[in-house]
Amino acid sequence: MLARDPAKASAELGAAFEVVAGDLTKADTLPPALRNVDHIIFTAGAPSGRYAPESLVKATDYEGVIDTLAAAQSAGLGDRFVYLNTVGIKTPSLAAFLINLLKRNTFVWRRRVEDKIRSSGLDYTIIRVGFLLDRPGGEHAVNVSQGALPLAPGNRITRADVAEAFVEAMQHPSASRATFEIVWGEGPQRNSWSALLEKIQPDRRPPA
Ligand SMILES: NC(=O)c1ccc[n+]([C@@H]2O[C@H](COP(=O)([O-])OP(=O)(O)OC[C@H]3O[C@@H](n4cnc5c(N)ncnc54)[C@H](OP(=O)(O)O)[C@@H]3O)[C@@H](O)[C@H]2O)c1
Repeated sequence: MLARDPAKASAELGAAFEVVAGDLTKADTLPPALRNVDHIIFTAGAPSGRYAPESLVKATDYEGVIDTLAAAQSAGLGDRFVYLNTVGIKTPSLAAFLINLLKRNTFVWRRRVEDKIRSSGLDYTIIRVGFLLDRPGGEHAVNVSQGALPLAPGNRITRADVAEAFVEAMQHPSASRATFEIVWGEGPQRNSWSALLEKIQPDRRPPA
């Protein structure tokens, strides 16, 4: 795991995790952190819930991703780059408007960066998620779709469900070069991730 403060991250995560130092806004810290890495699960972003100027948002949510893709290319990443994005980057909503005011234009930079991932040449999966809840996973149906949901209170999911989706998507053939959205569906019954992901369609190739 990459962290700006490895000692703090190690203390929180325990000895089972290997933590390496790195900062998305400092491109030269990324190549050493990506040595001998198979997959990348990219979930970082300008901090939630507080003001971030657009310069920081762009440096973290856009340039930080591009620099990571470049470092992954140079390191010869063998497997997949799996990227966490938010639903609502393509569909206006009050929530997106308010978040863009706080984390300046984060939805703009997060929309733009998706095309950089698609044209990177790396194998990738982009997973857009709804509002994140700190509750146990596996207790709710999950909807997987490939439209453009708005960010709205009804479109939510637990961090634990999202973590499972990432682990499954990392190796699922249907999730290769694909973008999909996950939010809670109706009721407690959940299909297997394998069944949920097998209907995913690959992205159309970006124009050359
Ligand atoms: N919260 C939601 O409801 C929601 C909904 C949809 C999508 N998302 C997305 O989900 C992700 C996580 O959200 P969250 O609410 O958990 O946010 P968060 O608590 O603010 O976590 C952001 C993470 O990014 C890391 N980070 C920030 N700047 C960095 C940098 N320059 N270099 C390396 N790491 C850096 C932070 O590390 P430090 O510990 O060092 O600060 C932290 O671990 C974000 O990408 C967010 O946009 C969130």
